[in-house]
Amino acid sequence: MLKNTATSFGLVTRAFHWAIAGLILVQLPLGLRLGSIEPGLANLWLFALHKTLGISVFALMCARLLWHLVSPPPAPLGGGWQAAAARAVHWTIYALMFSIPLSGWIGSSATGIDTVVFGRLTLPAIAPLSEAWETAAFTFHGIAAKAFLALLALHIGAALKREMDGDGTLTRMIRG
Ligand code: HEM
Ligand code: HEM
Repeated sequence: MLKNTATSFGLVTRAFHWAIAGLILVQLPLGLRLGSIEPGLANLWLFALHKTLGISVFALMCARLLWHLVSPPPAPLGGGWQAAAARAVHWTIYALMFSIPLSGWIGSSATGIDTVVFGRLTLPAIAPLSEAWETAAFTFHGIAAKAFLALLALHIGAALKREMDGDGTLTRMIRG
């Protein structure tokens, strides 16, 4: 089953979920490393890798959003405050998954250095060459990524807890 139903996640949504999750789990530590080193010739490839993976997340999120217009995901299991909390966390994660890569792209554009992904594709600059834009964008980028890390702990904790409670939350995101 490719599509989602009212109660289950289809293959496409599950593939998006785990592919993006895998990329993010590389991006967070990689980004934190970049934040603490001086850019130089020896580590330029780490920056390039971070930009490539980050833009991939952005592109996959756009595709995921379009897919969910065609095939909406099922509502969280159960009801009451837990379902409401799950919805709020999922929405916030969505917002961060767009704004984090976008702010990275804006900050990179503002440095005046080309944003090159996959070693060859040069993206257009989406911000003026400006130190103020660079500082603002990367400040947001860092704070939003750390907020995301906290939410992710909540997200994973909740998924594991509900699976242990036996409601099949994790199973339906893995096997549908
Ligand atoms: C690392 C980045 C991750 C992101 C960005 C992320 C994002 C999301 C989002 C947005 C949803 C809502 C469904 C949708 O609209 O597609 C979701 C559902 C879910 N996620 Fe994650 N997730 C991540 C990692 C994980 C991990 C590591 C686990 C496992 C422990 C997990 C377990 C689940 C489960 C079980 C659901 C289904 C919840 C339900 O039944 O309503 N996620 N995730
Ligand atoms: C899923 C997407 C992304 C995640 C989770 C992410 C995460 C992070 C994190 C956690 C940091 C460290 C921030 C700090 O220590 O203050 C960082 C730094 C950085 N990110 Fe990203 N990032 C993503 C996408 C991007 C994209 C698309 C670009 C550029 C096109 C980018 C460019 C950078 C740069 C240049 C730095 C170093 C900034 C500095 O020197 O302070 N990131 N990223």
